[in-house]
Amino acid sequence: MTVQAPVAEPRYRLRENVVRYASDLIGATPLLELTRTGTGTRLLLKLEQFNPTGSAKVRMAREMVLQAERSGELRPGGHIVEPTSGNTGTGLALMALERGYTFTAVVDGHAARDKLRAMKALGAQLIAVDSGNSDEPSSVERGRVADEIATRTGAYRPDQHNNPHNGAGYRDLAGELLSDLHTDVDYLIGAVGTGGSLCGTVEELRRLGSAVYAIGVEPVGSIIFGGKGGRYWQSGAGSPTGFPIGGNVNYDVIDEDCQVGDVDAFATARVVARRTGVLVGGTAGGAIHVALRRLVHLPAGSTVVVLVCDAGEKYLDTVYDEDWLLARGLFDEAAQQRITRLFGAYEESMRLAAGDIARTGT
Ligand SMILES: Cc1ncc(COP(=O)(O)O)c(C=O)c1O
Repeated sequence: MTVQAPVAEPRYRLRENVVRYASDLIGATPLLELTRTGTGTRLLLKLEQFNPTGSAKVRMAREMVLQAERSGELRPGGHIVEPTSGNTGTGLALMALERGYTFTAVVDGHAARDKLRAMKALGAQLIAVDSGNSDEPSSVERGRVADEIATRTGAYRPDQHNNPHNGAGYRDLAGELLSDLHTDVDYLIGAVGTGGSLCGTVEELRRLGSAVYAIGVEPVGSIIFGGKGGRYWQSGAGSPTGFPIGGNVNYDVIDEDCQVGDVDAFATARVVARRTGVLVGGTAGGAIHVALRRLVHLPAGSTVVVLVCDAGEKYLDTVYDEDWLLARGLFDEAAQQRITRLFGAYEESMRLAAGDIARTGT
């Protein structure tokens, strides 16, 4: 007699799970364990590229637009104008098309080409500012042009660097972390540009009772944490020389700051991609770099979360293009090997710890 295999229970849910708007899909992004140590400290990535538009910044774009509607700054059929390196702009473009506004993004040649294309594809009007050298961010000039358009046309200018609803847009992110982890976030590490994602998440975590320790990361060459200004290629994070730091960088909530150079940030992103199959953006590479170096020094059993602002698919012709890196002196095989060795060391520490447990039973 043949024994029949048991019939598997259906694993799908029985009620409908359909949303009407892409913005309804914002949030509930996954956590991926990147590595752990033999002492049980885990490094987790909060993969914000799983949001519509592929970045964390759509959370705050939504919050700023909804608040402007509530305050009356934005009226039906209105116009939004904002300087952007692309992720905020793509988020604003999404909100504008869903809610019937026009959106003008003021951009420069430093923006990743795919972000510019994405904004256009979502119907945004792009105004390019010429900084004389298209490789340099021209944040000051972009801001001036956006202000000028807002004054001339009456358009709503969210001002992501100073708008308190930028940080408020990350409240859900903090809640998601606590409910997904069932434990506290001991360390939160994130790249800092406007400051909204890191500071907003940390403020909400602490309001919910977390004792999180916050580490802000900026590119070498950015001046947010008092370093010397210079050229950098980590698109979206940092502030160039001469740019006024906005109110959303709340120094009081950031416990520690670090700078990471482009070579290490990009090498880390590339190694992470090869290990996990997940392409992370260049600024996430910088934040992961800090986490990887720090992990071994943390108390046993710590939970470390890195905010991954966006995905590497936006940087296939920069961070993930060897020729582009080589042409700018940013490709460094030795840097990639150092990071690979760090992963190897953590794996070894796990093996040793597993061996100890097998031998001693503790
Ligand atoms: C790729 C990327 N990383 C990091 C950041 C920094 O995020 P925040 O402005 O919330 O500090 C941004 C902001 O635009 C970004 O686009």
